[in-house]
Amino acid sequence: MARPLPLDHHRVRWGRLSLQPSPGRQAREPYSSFVATRSRSFERAAPFYDQTRGLPGPAVAEVTRLLVAELTGRGRGLEIGVGTGRVALPLHQAGVEMVGVDLARAMMAVLIEKAGGAMPFPLAQADATALPFPTDSFGAGLASHVFHLIPGWREALHELVRVVRPGGVVLSSRGGSAGGSVLRAVRTRFRQEVGSRAGHLGAEHGSDEVERELRELGARGRSLPVVHASRTTTIATLIDGLEAGHWSWTWDVAPAVLRDAATRTRTWAETERGPLDAPAVVDTEVRWRAFDLP
Ligand SMILES: C[S@@+](CC[C@H](N)C(=O)[O-])C[C@H]1O[C@@H](n2cnc3c(N)ncnc32)[C@H](O)[C@@H]1O
Repeated sequence: MARPLPLDHHRVRWGRLSLQPSPGRQAREPYSSFVATRSRSFERAAPFYDQTRGLPGPAVAEVTRLLVAELTGRGRGLEIGVGTGRVALPLHQAGVEMVGVDLARAMMAVLIEKAGGAMPFPLAQADATALPFPTDSFGAGLASHVFHLIPGWREALHELVRVVRPGGVVLSSRGGSAGGSVLRAVRTRFRQEVGSRAGHLGAEHGSDEVERELRELGARGRSLPVVHASRTTTIATLIDGLEAGHWSWTWDVAPAVLRDAATRTRTWAETERGPLDAPAVVDTEVRWRAFDLP
């Protein structure tokens, strides 16, 4: 379904997207493109996304340093599923020329707000499976926590490779793992309590299928150094967030089912882990892979 949106001070020719804002004008609205898939748009997550997914400052600085080293000298980078700019905004601030697309305008609105109210770099509401850019337009493509949300993730991957020039790089992260941490234990229990109704729509989170597909496209993968981050919260807060639907795999589950699952998870946690309001450390390992394109 095409969604006409106010394009008050930008002229966009899809297929040959002009990435330059008009001189002297500052855009406050993302461009709009054709949006067609059943992917998980994060429209509803905008108010709580940064609060629940944000990394501590030193970890952001470290991830940014690693990505800047990969991106410098390559020209423009495109991030699909750019969201609130958790990754792209620090890159832009570090001097990397970025472009972002996302299905969710509310997420990009947070990005624009964080940047002071004007689009810091070109943003478009567009579907990663049908990118509104010509072939070979970018020196790099980025995808962070996104392929598991797209039923047509293979198309999205092929699109990303299409718009990145030969010899360019695709940088991908499928999400911080919380190995052995309290978050993983609570989430696993909650998931069991919810039952089989919950799940992701796209690439399997824990599997290497995105990587295998990239290898079939001729890309060679490298691991970037793992960045460790930890924050302190409480089990009560973690369960409240699961019940409130802060995680996209719960979005097809009825609120009453989430409520019951949360009640049972609280009972389990009190027995197995102690007081719900005691401080709990959540460890995250942020892993990025770089894929050099032929
Ligand atoms: C988990 S968030 C990740 C945001 C950002 N990359 C980050 O790491 O913080 C995933 C984002 O992908 C967007 N998204 C999901 N499916 C998409 C699609 N088919 N095309 C473009 N964006 C999509 C969602 O709206 C959401 O903003």
